[in-house]
Amino acid sequence: MATIKAAILGFGTVGQGIYHILNEKREELKNKLGLELEVAKILVTDTSRERVPGTQHLMTDNMAEILEEDGLQVVFEAIVNEEPAYTYLKQAIENKCHVITANKVMFAKHGLKLQALAKEYGVFVGYEATTAGGVPVIKTMKNILLVNDVSRIQGILNGTSNYILTKMRAEGWAFEDALKEAQRLGYAEADPYNDVSGQDAFKKIMILSALAFGEQPDWDDVEVIGIDRISAEQVKLATEKGMRYRHVAEVEKREDGTIFAKVGPMLVDAEHPLYPVDDVNNAVALETNYIGTLSLVGPGAGMYPTASVMVEDYAEIIGKRAGFVVRI
Ligand code: NDP
Ligand code: HSE
Repeated sequence: MATIKAAILGFGTVGQGIYHILNEKREELKNKLGLELEVAKILVTDTSRERVPGTQHLMTDNMAEILEEDGLQVVFEAIVNEEPAYTYLKQAIENKCHVITANKVMFAKHGLKLQALAKEYGVFVGYEATTAGGVPVIKTMKNILLVNDVSRIQGILNGTSNYILTKMRAEGWAFEDALKEAQRLGYAEADPYNDVSGQDAFKKIMILSALAFGEQPDWDDVEVIGIDRISAEQVKLATEKGMRYRHVAEVEKREDGTIFAKVGPMLVDAEHPLYPVDDVNNAVALETNYIGTLSLVGPGAGMYPTASVMVEDYAEIIGKRAGFVVRI
């Protein structure tokens, strides 16, 4: 049986999740795809720290070593920030590797370029994990966009913010305590300013804009407000009035062809579809011409939800070789 060689860039919450799922699902994936998978290398910054027993020999802090790995075919990317992630994925594609990323900071800016480059090199880019964690919004959109036009997308796209707002309201926690717990649970970004300032949700809605409309609005024209401006008193007052704060990102293509987006807190009442979406859950509503409104709800962050959709991307990409129908 042929073996696919893969590398994992980043071995924190998401990278370790990928490794665990690939191990747990090894036999099943082998039977379904007719291929073995071997994790040949793992990229980190600090190679001395043991994270998962039995993986130390795979660690490197040198991307060149990964690119030189004989027969490498798949690169999972779960590091942070735009660079060096973009350069690494570009190099991986130029080396004819399929790439699968969770890095929305990088992908919001460079996603369209990476996808064009991948087409040139005959490989695929999986990016389900960049947006809404375990909620398969990218796959769903790719499936319906063959026939439907999406005119508007609205949703809760940051799990950390929703978790914090939920804990402040339902448990009376202080903002800082809820954020600390979101960090402990692996929901928050390495720099949680990205979560609470709205920047993380902004990057995700830009990724969805690129997929739905083939373009993004000018980033400078988008108003981005985070939950860091909501006080405990405001949360209490809203609750007394039967309302809840949600952090909502939206993008729409207007009739004149312009694309409008905004990101910020919203007060919703019990009738609103986002009212019951608590904890780390995300929700996305896609307004389409033929289907009508399509809604997806589920865990928006965390090790296993995120890593599992990256392994789904892997199976979909590699499944193509095994004769399954794929739309990536
Ligand atoms: P962590 O901070 O837990 O892990 C990041 C990993 O990347 C660490 O192992 C770190 O190495 C490594 N790393 C960072 N920079 C570099 C670099 N320049 N070169 C080599 N290695 C590097 O982050 P997460 O796992 O939480 O997130 C990873 C990515 O996934 C981020 O882009 C994030 O936005 C995205 N994401 C995260 C989700 C989540 O729920 N956590 C959900 C969806 C997406 P070292 O260990 O040595 O410090
Ligand atoms: N920090 C992000 C969030 C991770 O809380 O939504 C998932 O992208």
